[in-house]
Amino acid sequence: MERLLVTGGTRLRGSIAISGAKNAILPLLAGSLLSERPVVLEGVPSLIDVKTMKDALESLGVKVNWTGDTMQIDPSSLRSLEVPPTLARRMRASNLVMGPLLGRCGRFKVSYPGGCTIGSRPMDLHLKGLRACGAVIDDDHGCITAEAAGLQGADIHLDFPSVGATENIMMAATLARGTTIIRNAAREPEIVELQNFLNKLGARIRGAGMDTIRIDGVKKLNQEIAHRVIPDRIETGTFMVAAAITRGEVLINNVIPEHVEAVTAKLREAGVSIKEEDDRIIVTAPSNWKAVDIRTMPFPGFPTDMQPQMMVFLALAQGTSIITENIFENRFRHVGELRRMGSQIRLEGRSAVITGIKDLTGTVVEATDLRAGAALVLGGLAAENTTIIEGVQHLDRGYENLESRLKMLGAQVSREII
Ligand code: UD1
Repeated sequence: MERLLVTGGTRLRGSIAISGAKNAILPLLAGSLLSERPVVLEGVPSLIDVKTMKDALESLGVKVNWTGDTMQIDPSSLRSLEVPPTLARRMRASNLVMGPLLGRCGRFKVSYPGGCTIGSRPMDLHLKGLRACGAVIDDDHGCITAEAAGLQGADIHLDFPSVGATENIMMAATLARGTTIIRNAAREPEIVELQNFLNKLGARIRGAGMDTIRIDGVKKLNQEIAHRVIPDRIETGTFMVAAAITRGEVLINNVIPEHVEAVTAKLREAGVSIKEEDDRIIVTAPSNWKAVDIRTMPFPGFPTDMQPQMMVFLALAQGTSIITENIFENRFRHVGELRRMGSQIRLEGRSAVITGIKDLTGTVVEATDLRAGAALVLGGLAAENTTIIEGVQHLDRGYENLESRLKMLGAQVSREII
């Protein structure tokens, strides 16, 4: 078992560069399945989730060569249409192969996916969209199988702007006959990234970033391309909070400031100084900050993936903050661990009431999911004495070299194998 030891009290200073976005690279890898020609992806972050998606592609017969931050994918060798259950259960995003496999081969078989335990995370919107395009789907006994004699464009209204469902439908519709319209589509930057990537391959998609996306089906994708993935907005936000919570000053490079606007706005409201310059952000923290209220919302609202990190920041604010979680019903598992560090947080249904205190105290805590783990690291950076964080495997799913990069900024962090 591995754990992280974080000794708080150091103000973070210096500069850091943000890695490629986890939530962008995963759909791009899945989307590569639609192409018949080699694809090169650059800026690929070294993460367990990326390794899992690579394994999933290889299990389908695709050749993948990953060297440094470049991945070469040859989807022409695709031969299997079934993702082994062990891989599917390791990560929710494994479900993103459904759309491409259906689009290119008219069939797939996957197990119900796993991932972070932050809510029930059903698949109904994905399946409703794929069915509307003509797929016959059976989702019994933890396994989803689908067949389509030929996908047909459809007019689809999503009940909720689900990121994954929007991506799966976009990918399936790319090779469908006729036009597909997705209404109430997710507007996240990762959707725009997927559109840009698929269009480079030869797809005809427009509207991503707005709530209606139009996909004109094409016969095949056969452009040989290289594509650099966008920077990770959640990693950016996490480093912004790391700078703020340690009362430090950090220059964050390789950022798209518009992607973190909601986080920037809330940190500024609390009293943190944030300067935006082209592709970088400079965060300068005050010695004390104010309580603010937050409601998580689909993009461009405040991201649920930054909720735990902001909660620990607000645990040290002056005054009482309320965070309302509107995306995942079970995303408060970090609250118990933050309480163990001394924070005063009360849960009322989907809201957390956070009464700011002066100091957190280091203790042994457990990361229950990826972003909860990030919140505990941030708490450790601000706490008196040492915090021991167990469940580090969750952090490795989504943060590249977290401890060495925090160390570059002066943090006292080490990894221990016991
Ligand atoms: C993606 C992100 C994840 C982020 C989430 C919300 C990736 C790989 N993961 O996850 O980090 O936290 O967006 O921004 O990009 N829902 C249904 N039925 C469905 C699908 C979703 O009810 O068929 C519900 C979910 O239970 C949840 C909400 O919709 O309450 C949002 O989920 P969704 O946007 O689909 O998240 P993911 O794509 O799984």
